[in-house]
Amino acid sequence: TRYMDPQFYWGAATASYQVEGGIENNDWAEAARQGKVPVAGRATDHYNRFQEDFSLARQLGHNAHRFSIEWSRIEPEKGQFDEAAIAHYREVIAALRARGMEPVVTLWHWTLPQWVVDAGGWDSEDTAGYLRRYCERVVEEYKDEVRLWVILNEPQYWVAHAYVKGVFPPAERNIVHALTAFLHLAEAHKSVYARLKSLYPDLQFGAVESMGWIEPAVGRWMLQWFRNFAFPFLVRRHIDFMGVNYYRLWRIGKKDAPGPHASDMGWDIYPQGLGRVLKSAARWIRKPLYITENGLADARDEKRAEFIRAHIAEMLKAKKEGIDIRGYFHWSLLDNFEWDSGFWPRFGLVEVDYRTKERTVRPSAEIYKDIIKRSIISN
Ligand code: BGC
Repeated sequence: TRYMDPQFYWGAATASYQVEGGIENNDWAEAARQGKVPVAGRATDHYNRFQEDFSLARQLGHNAHRFSIEWSRIEPEKGQFDEAAIAHYREVIAALRARGMEPVVTLWHWTLPQWVVDAGGWDSEDTAGYLRRYCERVVEEYKDEVRLWVILNEPQYWVAHAYVKGVFPPAERNIVHALTAFLHLAEAHKSVYARLKSLYPDLQFGAVESMGWIEPAVGRWMLQWFRNFAFPFLVRRHIDFMGVNYYRLWRIGKKDAPGPHASDMGWDIYPQGLGRVLKSAARWIRKPLYITENGLADARDEKRAEFIRAHIAEMLKAKKEGIDIRGYFHWSLLDNFEWDSGFWPRFGLVEVDYRTKERTVRPSAEIYKDIIKRSIISN
């Protein structure tokens, strides 16, 4: 099959609600209107500037790009599909292909159309069926242009923030609903996977979960396992690949605080954790792996270059030891809307001036480009 392609994918990742702008018909926009989360508004205006943004990515040496499709644009009302939105994402995919970049498409990156929320969101067992219908339509549209599909982004991390911490909509802080939503997401994943795989056996459908490294070591193994693998392990027989999103060291009981070894958000930088997480993912999941996100908030771009270098070094070491890793996607291509934190965290390889929407390539993006170039040559 085409999947034997030995090429390694290098790129960056984004998600619809964080970059596009102009999305008003989903749970996050509604929560923002109620003053519960920051307003995304026009964000980076990537919806209108994707051509320019992909040209930058190409100039920066990327040969792949991960992005998500906004369900509330494709299906703004129950069962009504928007042809203009479908045409838009067709152009987005064509723009990547025209630049020789492989698209990796996420079908659900945390946002629900308002009508799905009104029907119960992930509390309801009906949502799996709605998701399946939407996914089927999208994959049917783009099946000839996209080989790599992510069904759900970080469902486990999302449940923790939506129903335990209560900072993402529906912000419920209800442990029973947390468990229900988690099981509904797992069921949704499995049923979407079964349907899509039976229709399109040549395409690859995966899952993505947030995985971190935990300190202290006391009790780590259990906690660590649940933190990283509860969802992936449940769906391990229903995926073609696993996407690992790795950001940080989690020190239990320690508050996030900026410092010499932390990001602007106070997340502790710990490249060795990536190698360890990849090894345990290989052991527990037994599927090809991609690093689907890895990055940091660093407005002054002081730590990003070294962060990238050190994490990629860990990844390449794991790869040499025989772990099947097929791509690395930095989070993010652009500065963007950071969910409950708003716009201040700066995750971009490319800086965005939110007033003028002007893009400026950060120096670390050039370092990443050099790493890509060297590794493509040495392959
Ligand atoms: C999410 C991204 C988010 C990033 C940084 C990941 O958990 O998938 O959407 O921006 O972390 O917080």
